[in-house]
Amino acid sequence: MAHHRPLLAFTLCLLTAPLFPAAAATGEARVDALLRQMTLDEKLGQLTLYSGGTATGPETGRRAYEAMVAAGEVGAFLNVVGPDVNRLQKIALEDSRLKIPLIFALDVIHGYRTIFPTPLGLSATWSPDLVERSARIAALEARADGLRWTFAPMVDIARDARWGRITEGAGEDPYLGRVMAAAYVRGFQGRALGGPHSIAATLKHYVGYGAAEGGRDYNTTQIPERLLREVYLPPFRAGVEAGAATVMTGFNALNGVPASANDFILRRILRQEWGFEGLVVSDWTSIAEIEAHGTARDGGDAARKAITAGVDMDMESDLYRTRLGAEIAAGRVALSVIDEAVRRVLRLKMAVGLFDEPYAELDPDAMVQPGFREVAREAAERSFVLLKNDGVLPLKPDAKVALIGPLAEDAGAMLGSWGARGRPGDVVTLRAALAHRLGGGLIYARGTGIDTRSDDGFAEAVAAARQSDIAILALGEDAGRMTGEAASRTRLDLPGNQTALLKAVAETGVPIVLLVFSGRPLDLTDVAPDVEAMLAVWYPGIEAGPALSRVLYGDSSPGGRLTVSFPRAVGQEPLYYNRLSTGRPVPPEDRSGGGEPLPKYVSRYIDEEDTALYPFGYGLSYTRFSYGPVSVEHDRYSARALNAGKTRIRVRGEVTNVGERPGEEVVQLYIRQRGTSVARPVRELKGFQRVALRPGETREVEFSLGRDELAFWTIDMEHLVEPADLQVWIAGSSTDGQPATTLIGD
Ligand code: BGC
Repeated sequence: MAHHRPLLAFTLCLLTAPLFPAAAATGEARVDALLRQMTLDEKLGQLTLYSGGTATGPETGRRAYEAMVAAGEVGAFLNVVGPDVNRLQKIALEDSRLKIPLIFALDVIHGYRTIFPTPLGLSATWSPDLVERSARIAALEARADGLRWTFAPMVDIARDARWGRITEGAGEDPYLGRVMAAAYVRGFQGRALGGPHSIAATLKHYVGYGAAEGGRDYNTTQIPERLLREVYLPPFRAGVEAGAATVMTGFNALNGVPASANDFILRRILRQEWGFEGLVVSDWTSIAEIEAHGTARDGGDAARKAITAGVDMDMESDLYRTRLGAEIAAGRVALSVIDEAVRRVLRLKMAVGLFDEPYAELDPDAMVQPGFREVAREAAERSFVLLKNDGVLPLKPDAKVALIGPLAEDAGAMLGSWGARGRPGDVVTLRAALAHRLGGGLIYARGTGIDTRSDDGFAEAVAAARQSDIAILALGEDAGRMTGEAASRTRLDLPGNQTALLKAVAETGVPIVLLVFSGRPLDLTDVAPDVEAMLAVWYPGIEAGPALSRVLYGDSSPGGRLTVSFPRAVGQEPLYYNRLSTGRPVPPEDRSGGGEPLPKYVSRYIDEEDTALYPFGYGLSYTRFSYGPVSVEHDRYSARALNAGKTRIRVRGEVTNVGERPGEEVVQLYIRQRGTSVARPVRELKGFQRVALRPGETREVEFSLGRDELAFWTIDMEHLVEPADLQVWIAGSSTDGQPATTLIGD
């Protein structure tokens, strides 16, 4: 239907902060008029969100969706795309009494048809601009298939690699989490939510879901208020400030109160403190689950608790539609609470333009435009993190290559755990890309499956390696089964017999380049010594092969840095760099290779170091960078002036490319404050810049620290800058560098 395909330059241009036109006067009058006409059942229908794929029929309490839409019993759908969107919309507009359009949503997480690296991979680019562009493309494609709403970004901070959903977020750091949350929102929503290529974003899962105990999905979370405010809430707040239209509640119980019925986080923080005016949607059946959590006696009780806590829309529980009527009749829920929720649904529909242009302009030609592939490739290249390199990378163009492993030609896996409408057929695999580059010269052997016991394929893999100068091993996790939702693991090693395969190949003495495809940090302690080079490549998306091939051969240098700590052993989890010190930290000189015998009465394990194998912020390049000393402008600052926003602390550093190749460094700013009323983390990221440097080139980098960076929740739960000794690092990772110091006085 659509003829005017937007110009790439237009769609990708950098956009200023989006506007969420929530309460435009004429719109509000329309909302009021509708509300006055609506019956209670029609109101509850607007609060009802169904998935297209779920069952209807007598057992479920649902009739055919067509009939329900005609009766005004449904307000929104997820998992309905393409021509079905207009088919159902026509029923809503022609057959329902009030002709309120439906809104259609989907989990458009890291691309719609053009699939980009998984969010954890995208975060490793440390490039909000690239994240924004990827979300813009996703929005354009989703919109061209009938959608106006995505359940993304997931902005849950995740400190535990066992949790499968760590792959869906931006990692462990709240500062980076904030930057990325805002970038996704800008990308999805564009300059204005009503724009022709915009979709409403959803910040999820509010809040604390990533802190699931033991890393087990859906598990309970216990988060003291200070930690909640300093670590888990900031990305949500940044997303709200960027204009996110909606927020989704989590599955978790937070300090004993289910997140989907949690007045404190929903009414007090989100609505009152932050002034959020958008829509709050539950997660999939998370309202019904309030009963299983144990704070509701039955479905009616669950519905009442959810709506009064501030959850406007019910995804899949079907309890608002079926049970709230009785709650209202019994006087347990006020009609004004329902009206408030309905208003938000109607405003959202208005904001995304549904009242003006309810039908979708479907445009299959909008998908996977050549320019989109370029962005997907660039994103993938920048997401790869070079963990180790003894000098075999980049590969020599004439080296004979054996490509081994189950992920070398698994097109489906490259789409990650939320492939939206991505197609394996759009993926260029590593095998295809290398075959293209090397002509006939590539030897391939699968070796084993991802989760296989039999070593039948080992001999062929070993033989392939023997005939070659170098072996590239493509190993890792099963994207669909082992990463994402309901995919928590107690082991973080390479699954199945992949480690044994790697050891068998290593026996040949042929140098190995290991590509680790995963949705989480893996425990690579056992395999690192056997390989000459190693890259964390996540799941790179449709341009996996070309991006990997270009990086392996040095057409570009791997640009990613870790946004999650890679452990030495699973027993260290949860593991994160911005931890508090203990009273008995391990003295640095006693760490690996240090003092013997190992000191006993310090905070450590008897069988493993306390540090990460590869820390947050870490990542090598094909060149090397060196840092000059850090300097702080003054030796003393005033906390009062910092709190008043009257001064900022200027910090300078210098970085030089001391290697032979051009490269990009992610220059990171960290702080530590001592002498404060409450202990502060041993390091906290407070800024970063990506700088491209030619060999020999030096760049001065400057940062500044103000109230936003220095304030924390004090002993009295005030958000303030306190007097403190301040250390500042400008370095290439969370464990590098020498700090400068300054004093924050009264
Ligand atoms: C997930 C959400 C997702 C929803 C709809 C749930 O199982 O937790 O992240 O948005 O399903 O697909």
